[in-house]
Amino acid sequence: MKDLKMFELIYVSTAANRMTKDNLQSILMESMRHNLDHDITGILLYDQGSFCQVLEGEKKAVLSIFKKIKKDKRHMNIITVSEKDIQYREFSAWSMRFINLDFYDREMIKGYQDISGSRMNWAEINASLAKSILMQFKSM
Ligand SMILES: Cc1cc2nc3c(=O)[nH]c(=O)nc-3n(C[C@H](O)[C@H](O)[C@H](O)COP(=O)(O)O)c2cc1C
Repeated sequence: MKDLKMFELIYVSTAANRMTKDNLQSILMESMRHNLDHDITGILLYDQGSFCQVLEGEKKAVLSIFKKIKKDKRHMNIITVSEKDIQYREFSAWSMRFINLDFYDREMIKGYQDISGSRMNWAEINASLAKSILMQFKSM
């Protein structure tokens, strides 16, 4: 289905502390509840202390939640990788899908090692690589 005036924002950040399963779970619970109410969808990826998130929805809603997310003390070094209008949502099935890369084989993720050998330096990622990595989780 085509959504009119959709907006997509991708950012990366660094967890402020070591994230426990419970920490991650509560971020996800808050996100899913709020995102459902505001018709926001996306994926939150966690990779050994780094986050990469795509948020999609109505522009005002996405920018407003991103403003909140940026103030969240549970992460820092928030870098906006991409923000743009889109024709339709890619992740419409999820109010927020959570992916912890520890449970995946990183070697199977295309582009994962492009930046710095075996371990991704998320802070250096560009828009097309970030999108392509996130897109791989649509079908994984
Ligand atoms: C990495 C990360 C991703 C987050 N993603 C979302 C999200 O997609 N949606 C959301 O509502 N909150 C998300 N949050 C939580 C918000 O920062 C905020 O705590 C939450 O919206 C509750 O805000 P409130 O206390 O004003 O209701 C995220 C937090 C972190 C650290």
